[in-house]
Amino acid sequence: MNMLRLGVLVSGRGSNLQAIMNEIEAGTVKAEIAVVISNKQGVPALERAERHGLTTVFLDPKSVADTPNPRQAYDQKLLETLQHHQVQLVVLAGYMKIVTSVLIDSYESRIMNIHPALLPSFPGLDAQRQALNHGVKVSGCTVHFVTEGMDTGPIILQRAVPVEEGDTADTLSERILKEEHGLLPRAIQLFAEGRLTVEGRVVHIRDV
Ligand code: GAR
Repeated sequence: MNMLRLGVLVSGRGSNLQAIMNEIEAGTVKAEIAVVISNKQGVPALERAERHGLTTVFLDPKSVADTPNPRQAYDQKLLETLQHHQVQLVVLAGYMKIVTSVLIDSYESRIMNIHPALLPSFPGLDAQRQALNHGVKVSGCTVHFVTEGMDTGPIILQRAVPVEEGDTADTLSERILKEEHGLLPRAIQLFAEGRLTVEGRVVHIRDV
């Protein structure tokens, strides 16, 4: 059987990447990581991937800084790298760069992102702190398909995490992160099983 080929995009710590690698190894996610791509050099996520024997690529944003449309030019390079590795599903696992239509048009409904809040609440940066500052009693995490617009695409899975009295951004982030590590691999496996269909904003999950 041909395994679903993943391209995982990272920018930092890589704990979500680690969760995916662990579940692939355990056989609970039936996919293979074809390439891990980072927009930051020397980050722990790349080290984790290399320790695991995966192919890694650092794509330097500076290499396109002098072009007329640097964001699009960057995503063109990204797209070429993904296609070169025959990636079928792109997973943004702590990838802190907005993707443009260059990538989205070629991978429509085939790019997933994990976000540390219950979207559509608290999109963008520092979502856990935004939730705390707003005073919500429940936050959580969301896996969604990526469309143009910040964290606005069709929602695949969500998990709620209660906010506790005395929580700081760090303690809340830590509890949300634990849930992220279950949620993202689960969404990938649902995709691998061909169980996700998108109708407008709504993602339907077919029973088996
Ligand atoms: C995760 O909490 C992820 O949800 C968040 O960055 C962290 C990356 O951690 N992503 C975003 O905020 C995207 N808007 P990791 O590098 O350890 O996986």
